[in-house]
Amino acid sequence: MRQSADTQKKILALNWKMHPATIGKAKELFIDTKKATKNAKRATIVVAPPFPFLAELRKLSVRTHMYLGAQNVHAEKTGAHTGEVSVPMLQSLDVSYVILGHSERRATGETDGVINEKVRGALKAKMQTILCVGETSRDQSGSFFNFVEDQVRTALAEVPAAHIKHLLVAYEPVWAIGTGDHATPLQVEEMRLFIKKVISDIYSRATAEKINILYGGSVDGKNIETFLMETSCDGFLVGGASLKEKEVHDMCARIEAYDA
Ligand code: PGA
Repeated sequence: MRQSADTQKKILALNWKMHPATIGKAKELFIDTKKATKNAKRATIVVAPPFPFLAELRKLSVRTHMYLGAQNVHAEKTGAHTGEVSVPMLQSLDVSYVILGHSERRATGETDGVINEKVRGALKAKMQTILCVGETSRDQSGSFFNFVEDQVRTALAEVPAAHIKHLLVAYEPVWAIGTGDHATPLQVEEMRLFIKKVISDIYSRATAEKINILYGGSVDGKNIETFLMETSCDGFLVGGASLKEKEVHDMCARIEAYDA
């Protein structure tokens, strides 16, 4: 299994969602992504394509700077679960990251309880687990903080401290996903600190300090700069812009140029 990324680098996790339409196009996009990020030294590039493309893209990712991720996984290692994919299957394809709890999966009925089972299974197997959390909307009362806290706490219920080092949390406010209406750096930074505090309360301060917090929601080659300058996010989870070579190039270039 490929080892996980250097935690000092910024993570650029590219969530292709249900794109592109064919394996031919997926290979093209992967090669374009490889070119666009070839100078990455300060960025860890993670590509999360649809399941059917993983085996072929693995061949293209050998001895590169790119890691493979999956967009979902089942909690059990094996069994009668029609249509599901397990952690050992993914690991046998050198997939080292998995995105869990994405709002688009929650919208299909995936509950906090199911997400918790998946998170436990993935972390136990040492997968780099990107847990997505985020409110659907905000109001003046600030209740979205409680909402996000509940999501973090239920997802991490009964996760032993020994497994937590493979966790990453992506703050993805639902209102910012695919809308072009990204959160402000202040909103992101505030929530980043809040999530750290929640993890610190559950585990310890030292544990929380080591957990990478990403931001996702309409990140692109232009606005990524303000998040680099004005937040301490450890990386980004990117949807729409991950399908465009120029955007990927610009995001990576801005990470490289950013003087931490
Ligand atoms: P977006 O998607 O970049 O298109 O907003 C982000 C995500 O869903 O992870």
